[in-house]
Amino acid sequence: MIKNAIKTIEEVRLDFPILEREVNGKKLVYFDNGATTQKPKVVVDAINDYYSNQNSNIHRGVHTLSQEATSAYEEARIKIQEFIGAKHSHEIILTTGTTGSVNLLAHSFSKAFLKEGDEIIISAMEHHSNIVPWQMICQERGCKLKIAPMNNKGEIIYDEFLNLLSSKTKLAALVHVSNTLGTINPVKNIIKDAHKVGAKVFIDGAQAVSHDVVNVQELDADFYCFSGHKLFGPTGTGVLYGKEELLNQMPPYQGGGDMIKTVTFEKTTYNELPHKFEAGTPNIVGGIGLGVAIDYINSVGFDFIKKQEEELLIYATNKLKAIDGLKIVGEANEKASVISFIVEGIHPYDIGVILDKTGVAVRTGHHCTQPIMDFFEIPGTIRASFSFYNTNHEVDYFVSMLERAINMLK
Ligand code: ALA
Repeated sequence: MIKNAIKTIEEVRLDFPILEREVNGKKLVYFDNGATTQKPKVVVDAINDYYSNQNSNIHRGVHTLSQEATSAYEEARIKIQEFIGAKHSHEIILTTGTTGSVNLLAHSFSKAFLKEGDEIIISAMEHHSNIVPWQMICQERGCKLKIAPMNNKGEIIYDEFLNLLSSKTKLAALVHVSNTLGTINPVKNIIKDAHKVGAKVFIDGAQAVSHDVVNVQELDADFYCFSGHKLFGPTGTGVLYGKEELLNQMPPYQGGGDMIKTVTFEKTTYNELPHKFEAGTPNIVGGIGLGVAIDYINSVGFDFIKKQEEELLIYATNKLKAIDGLKIVGEANEKASVISFIVEGIHPYDIGVILDKTGVAVRTGHHCTQPIMDFFEIPGTIRASFSFYNTNHEVDYFVSMLERAINMLK
């Protein structure tokens, strides 16, 4: 459930202690939210509280600590279910992150549903974590990977995506929001059109869930994933959502504790969802922390988050476009608050290093999307990715430090 905004930007910033720190003697300006978001104090406190007062293993003990920890972990699963609008909490598989989720899906989906000659569609703007696992699976099972191309603005060429769909398509695995370009893909249409040929659809929502409401049932996504650490929660946490009937048909990913019902040396039977896909002791405190992060997001509200981020995107885009020799890479009509850019004649890395000296954190490089760099024929970009706790004042400072860096390097 999404509540309306009840906080001011000043109050929100106070929730994130790290925003007060200095880097290289300057006040931190954190514009690397695409890589990971900062954590509100409530999440940090929850982690501390768990280890101070509850630490124990889950699903295994009759003792009080274990029962408390189990309840807290399973409550987090329900919060995640509600956050993305899933029908059942057992459709929420807790993983180590987006990469863990894609690898789980690639392994188990392929064993259940793929045979030689089948096709998987991805797009030209995928993160490596939504390319490489599918390449590995295609090699293993004799399937074909098809790439939906993009235009110069960094948008999927929709007609060409439609042309790739056929009865051979078993899965379309596409990114919701590009980490490098900021493009918001039309995932609802993608899902609807892929379903027409009987394909299943997996959406990588790593960069989407922190920016806007996602409802997997409204989207009719078959699978959806994201990372906890890009959603103001702890690192090493993530989610794979899957429709119950599909998850039930898929074999487990890893074997071990918790994922079994019975084990003999002759035969093992598997646990029910979601445990079938959750072998071993999980990141218990991480899952609980992610639940607290979701509570926090709900307390801020997506009305506030969207308004703040849309303003930042427009304000920063206009200021950056006014800089001589600067070119924005990724100018989709539908964009999240991510701006990649290059500056003529200057390597992105050099600008990143100088910005760091002024307290500004941006990411430079290929952002784990080398095919995007090849498409634009560039070695990398400088990427500023904003969150709702950032301000126009920070953008002003960033742009003035960037101009200084450009003058030094020219
Ligand atoms: N995928 C993360 C990023 O875009 C790490 O920075």
